[in-house]
Amino acid sequence: MNFSLSEEHLMIQSAARDFAQTELLPGVIERDERQEFPTEQVKKMGELGFMGMMVDPQYGGSGMDTLSYVLVMEELSKVDASSSVIVSVNNSLVCWGLETFGTEEQKQKYLPRLTSGEGIGAFCLSEPEAGSDATSQKTTAIDKGDHYVLNGTKNWITNGGTAEVYLVIAQTDIEKGHKGINALIVEKGMDGFELGPKENKLGIRGSDTHSLIFNDVKVPKENRIGEDGFGFKFAMKTLAGGRIGIAAQALGIAAGAYELALKYSKERKAFGTEISNHQAIAFKLADMHTKIQAARMLVYQSAIDKDNGDNYDLSGAMAKLYASEVAMETAVEAVQIHGGNGFVKEYHVERMMRDAKITQIYEGTSEIQKIVISRSILRD
Ligand code: CAA
Ligand code: FAD
Repeated sequence: MNFSLSEEHLMIQSAARDFAQTELLPGVIERDERQEFPTEQVKKMGELGFMGMMVDPQYGGSGMDTLSYVLVMEELSKVDASSSVIVSVNNSLVCWGLETFGTEEQKQKYLPRLTSGEGIGAFCLSEPEAGSDATSQKTTAIDKGDHYVLNGTKNWITNGGTAEVYLVIAQTDIEKGHKGINALIVEKGMDGFELGPKENKLGIRGSDTHSLIFNDVKVPKENRIGEDGFGFKFAMKTLAGGRIGIAAQALGIAAGAYELALKYSKERKAFGTEISNHQAIAFKLADMHTKIQAARMLVYQSAIDKDNGDNYDLSGAMAKLYASEVAMETAVEAVQIHGGNGFVKEYHVERMMRDAKITQIYEGTSEIQKIVISRSILRD
């Protein structure tokens, strides 16, 4: 394992750090409170190349590796996890899925707007009765020759209200089980495509989460991704990389909360000395630092596995499982170190604690990561 970062990696890391401080930090508390989507910030992230980081430049992408993407995700998430989830879904679920499995026409049609940040993408797998149990798709895409007719409801869709391109997973042939599932590109504004209300969430409140309703939506055959019946594999292969992005988000939340707690502990005095001089606080910082470093190694390793063309199902799942646990634990301890100040909005750590929780739920809950991990180690 060699985690020494190249000049390019350090440059992109530093650019993301600067951007987070200058563009995401101002207003992050207000956006959280008002559940306000970071429209301007997304536009600027598009200009910086953060919205299509791993996409080939011929489609408007930045042509970078997964490690660069992870470094950017970490830095953005230290400050604003609502913005970073928008980046994560657009990059690792929508752009990667389209570039890896789409036709040349699909790539040329959709990727330039997605990579520039002018248009955002959404990935639509979850349903009211198919969350963890993702093969139980109830949304149907019935084959009508030159098009599919889509009916059903997706829920919890990140970027649901702001996206213009939706990758929708649906069941075409129930007899074939998961082998009868397809992935279709649905565009905003298609007849019969309706948006459900925006969810009022515990955390990542700046990102917009909606249910989507499809009533006889006609989707042209050329909008199918891959061969007939490839939809479930498409979702699983795409999510394997998505989990690396969410692991990096969790790592960033943990590192951001730790940095704030460390600083505060050296400033706040109690019993005549800085609280960092009390061993109970110093040991909390020691635990936080150790666990964040361990999480970072897992996250970077999974990114490097992907860049090297090695299998990353296992390393990505381990990274997500562990980094999300560390994010939750660290954010809770950061609130504790801040005392009463930790409980109010202007110190940021209460938001980080609320934001951390989702990393244990989406893109496969911690329990699902353990299924993926245990199946992998028992099989091999
Ligand atoms: N790559 C390729 N194929 C895969 C795969 C992978 N990583 N994982 C599974 N498959 C294939 C299997 O090989 C199998 O195909 P075959 O029968 O041809 O071998 C098929 O998929 C079904 O797999 P399983 O039999 O293992 O299916 P299962 O019902 O036991 O479920 C699961 C497996 C891992 C639990 C899966 O259902 C799962 O990942 N659930 C969680 C869903 C999830 O992560 N949702 C996230 C939604 S997106 C999101 O959340 C975005 C966001 O918030 C920002
Ligand atoms: P359930 O599957 O009902 O799980 C409930 C509990 O049971 C969990 O603790 C789970 O781990 C446990 N459980 C279930 N099955 C097992 C098992 N076999 N063994 C052990 N424990 C089990 N989905 C998308 O498709 N696209 C998105 O963009 C998206 N964004 C999201 C954004 C937010 C803010 C949220 C909250 C969710 C988002 N999701 C998205 C959905 C998310 O992926 C699901 O919520 C998640 O996969 C869990 O599904 P569920 O909510 O149906 O929980």
